[in-house]
Amino acid sequence: MVGSTELKQHWRAVYAGKDEDEVSWYQARPSLSLQLIRAAVAAPDAAIIDAGGGASTLVDHLLQAGYRDISVLDIAPEGMDKAKARLGAEQAAQVRWIVADLLQWQPPQMYDLWHDRAVFHFLTEEEQRQRYVDVLRRATRPGGHVIIATFAPDGPEMCSGLPVRRQSPQEIAAALGEEFDLLQTADEHHTTPAGKVQHFNYALLRRRQG
Ligand SMILES: C[S@@+](CC[C@H](N)C(=O)[O-])C[C@H]1O[C@@H](n2cnc3c(N)ncnc32)[C@H](O)[C@@H]1O
Repeated sequence: MVGSTELKQHWRAVYAGKDEDEVSWYQARPSLSLQLIRAAVAAPDAAIIDAGGGASTLVDHLLQAGYRDISVLDIAPEGMDKAKARLGAEQAAQVRWIVADLLQWQPPQMYDLWHDRAVFHFLTEEEQRQRYVDVLRRATRPGGHVIIATFAPDGPEMCSGLPVRRQSPQEIAAALGEEFDLLQTADEHHTTPAGKVQHFNYALLRRRQG
């Protein structure tokens, strides 16, 4: 198991060494995430968090779509710095940027929607997965939505040089437990900047009301 400090160093080095559109997970437009988010939360004041968002362009598109309560969390400030620079000072100031290790984080509020693309899949050990679910439960209001995207069972075994746990939407739902209902699943065949195709699974879930 990689410790929090080593993990942070790994991700800081990744973002320091590559442009945002050179990393394998880069998407100019995260279409599937946007589609699922729109299906889950319509209100512009819905509290949305992109957990492990890094330099993702999701925040740009959410702002463009009119969402006004957006947080981005990442262990490495360098990724989010790229997103801030891309957005410009005025737009970046409309977003809450949180530097934290998800597994150590104490959520300051409950969100209407939790989005995670390609973060949960790094948690290969049961104890880490349980800690993630514990944080997720504290950060998602009853009735709130969760979107988690991981490499699919036939996807790559590694991401950014780290081993991943490949899983189906049903496995994601099982990890979250009975408190979360699986509403929708989706597939993405993501083409990396190097031209490789990676199979992702998306799960949209809803936390039960009580
Ligand atoms: C493969 S990238 C995906 C980035 C983004 N979600 C996207 O789809 O473009 C994984 C991201 O998760 C972040 N990350 C990894 N482990 C983390 C942790 N324990 N806590 C917070 N962020 C983490 C990394 O810094 C990186 O930005």
